[in-house]
Amino acid sequence: MSPTLAQVNFRKKSIHMSKVQVFDSMTEFLSFRQTFSPDVEIGFVPTMGALHQGHVSLLNRSIDENDFTVLSIFVNPTQFNDPTDFTKYPKTWDADMVLATAAGVNAIIAPTYNQLYPDNYRYKIIEGEFSKKLCGAERIGHFDGVLTVVMKLLQIVRPHKAYFGEKDYQQFKLIHDMVQSFFMPIQVVPCPTLREASGLAMSSRNTRLSAEGLKKAALIYQFISEEKTTVQAAQKLTDHGFQVEYLQDEGDRRFVAAFLEGVRLIDNVTIK
Ligand code: PAF
Repeated sequence: MSPTLAQVNFRKKSIHMSKVQVFDSMTEFLSFRQTFSPDVEIGFVPTMGALHQGHVSLLNRSIDENDFTVLSIFVNPTQFNDPTDFTKYPKTWDADMVLATAAGVNAIIAPTYNQLYPDNYRYKIIEGEFSKKLCGAERIGHFDGVLTVVMKLLQIVRPHKAYFGEKDYQQFKLIHDMVQSFFMPIQVVPCPTLREASGLAMSSRNTRLSAEGLKKAALIYQFISEEKTTVQAAQKLTDHGFQVEYLQDEGDRRFVAAFLEGVRLIDNVTIK
């Protein structure tokens, strides 16, 4: 029998106090999803794990705005063009469980590659313009992997709202436009970038920086916000030991990707 709104709210509270429901079988999650009545609003936060306060802010927003929140944790290999970057991606399952449970998430899906890619990535979502710029120009195929996995996850979860951080603004915009393009009844919600006190954008990759690197990485936000031109901002970063991949104004935003201590960091700000 489908749970009513009240039952789901009750279930949300009881899960909040006990354990979050974890699905590593997508078949089981799909059956579970079928039990929901249409009036239960579902929020979805897709992640690759290594959760930090930035993710928690997306989860909190989803929990506030919906009856039931689903978190996905899947380090998606098809969006990594560099195999080392994929293998080095931080995995912090136990800490993620603690954060997700404390936030009050209702369900976590943690699929395997074979479950998400039964076709072994024969079918792809490819966007032909914006995905080729900025991060897409350097990381060939990156957004094909992102859009494909997000499409699969959205089909599985069938949320009313899905939440994405503006730190990955290009990703947010591409997903937002894909959802519109394919007439999917989902609201793609942008959430502001969370920053450390230093201004550094919160990112799972920050954990790979040394203490000194963490301090220095704050210069990215400082220079892209303060410098008048992209050339000046890029030069300042280079002078401070960053390898700048790109630093570009696009529409009303300034975007940057730069390496520090071999870690690729991205950020963006609106330009006035
Ligand atoms: O932003 C991320 O963590 C990933 O790109 C996403 C959206 C979960 C897809 O793998």
